[in-house]
Amino acid sequence: MEDISSFDLVLFGGSGDLAMRKLLPALYNRHRNNDLPEQGRIIAVARQQMEREEYITLVREHCQRYLKARYNEETFASFAHRLQYLPLDANSPADYAKLKQLLEDNPGKERAFFLSTSSELFSAICTQLAAQGLAGNGARVVLEKPLGHDLKSSKKINDAVTRVFGEAQIFRIDHYLGKEPVQNLMALRFGNALFEPMWERTWVRDVQITIAEDVGIERRADFYDRTGALRDVLQNHLLQLLCIIAMEPPSSIDADAVRDEKLKVVRALAPFESPADVAARTVRGQYRAGAVAGQPVPGYLEESGVPEHSGTETFVALKTWINNWRWSGVPFYLRTGKRMQQRLAEIVINFHNIPHSIFPQGSSPLQGNRLVIELQPEEGLKLYLMAKRPGDKLTLKPVYLNLDFSDHFPEEPMDAYERLLTDVLRGRLTLFMRRDELDAAWAWCDPILQGWEAIGDKPKPYAAGTWGPAAASALVAKDGSVWHEES
Ligand code: BG6
Repeated sequence: MEDISSFDLVLFGGSGDLAMRKLLPALYNRHRNNDLPEQGRIIAVARQQMEREEYITLVREHCQRYLKARYNEETFASFAHRLQYLPLDANSPADYAKLKQLLEDNPGKERAFFLSTSSELFSAICTQLAAQGLAGNGARVVLEKPLGHDLKSSKKINDAVTRVFGEAQIFRIDHYLGKEPVQNLMALRFGNALFEPMWERTWVRDVQITIAEDVGIERRADFYDRTGALRDVLQNHLLQLLCIIAMEPPSSIDADAVRDEKLKVVRALAPFESPADVAARTVRGQYRAGAVAGQPVPGYLEESGVPEHSGTETFVALKTWINNWRWSGVPFYLRTGKRMQQRLAEIVINFHNIPHSIFPQGSSPLQGNRLVIELQPEEGLKLYLMAKRPGDKLTLKPVYLNLDFSDHFPEEPMDAYERLLTDVLRGRLTLFMRRDELDAAWAWCDPILQGWEAIGDKPKPYAAGTWGPAAASALVAKDGSVWHEES
């Protein structure tokens, strides 16, 4: 891998949940792997008044907790040399002047500002950075999702950021793009000739994409209740998976070649035409008390901090199409939810059944072939084929070829944020979202949100530990399909 030049990485929200749980453990891992140059500094900034030593203690506790066996005291001690802490009020010019001084102690480095704060602060932070002359050509800015809560608010934030930083300096994160198995989708599609001829409407009957979580809202009631499953996961992670599965082959792996193709997919998504169309093609759900992995768990409305009559969805499923030659008429079903039966992210490609059966009637129903791309918790591929059962009767049964990637790549996979942070430091934009992609994603989702509001749609209850409301099964059953795990 190409080397990273010496850098200053400034983490806004440096004492927050994302920094502690993901960003700092990811940086520690890259340090442990000797991927970071010796002079690379991590400058955490946050509101709290804290000494550097206190901050390091906080980071140590979190690294121990999240890295478990990968944590080592000696390695942490050398990692801690990189860490600085600066208390900063996002609106105080005097505090930015101190940041500037700290950065100028060490000029000539790559400079990246990671904004891991509420997106409401992005505009103020960028304006203040510009006022101090810190946003010049060499600087990069990293924006954590969610960027706004609809097209209008997202545009407002992006307008403010782009007044200061050029598009080539902006790294919009969707952490799913940093996941190893998600990048492996590109290898599957564009490193193999086998599937490509069948990757279209003549062969594919439908596509299902699921991101299911067994956890609930994890002390994020305030954020989650304002957000819901559509904005939290479908608008970004699920749409990104859809784009990679459905896009045309890009001419290269360069950022714009890939992002141009993804954008075409989002722009070709069948729009939601009316509230009635939204009602017919979407299902909202909200979990009730139930059991996950044998343990009783409370319902969404009983979670601490959730308003008593909240109408926020913790589950969403929908049906869409991609209006182009390759995919015309092929349903794409997307779903995501909290407190589902298990943690699972997968893409299922259902192929059409054979056109005519030569087998005796009753020799078990023939099923179309199915390719299951498992992204998490394990990374694998299963290809379902029909085979003859041993014996003197000619009966068939689906069996599958099973590829477990960990059998071939025993090395520890990189966490999504390790990959994304190193790409920021190297200045590689391929795995980040361009503004037009984000605008197109919101433009497609806005009518769904408006449709729900117009019809006063109430989320349908589902018991925690299940696969969501029955209406989600009905959504695919209307087309004669079933969600993969139910078959
Ligand atoms: C985040 C959402 O973007 O993705 C969370 O805000 C969700 O609600 C998380 O839990 C899921 O990511 P992963 O990597 O655990 O599948």
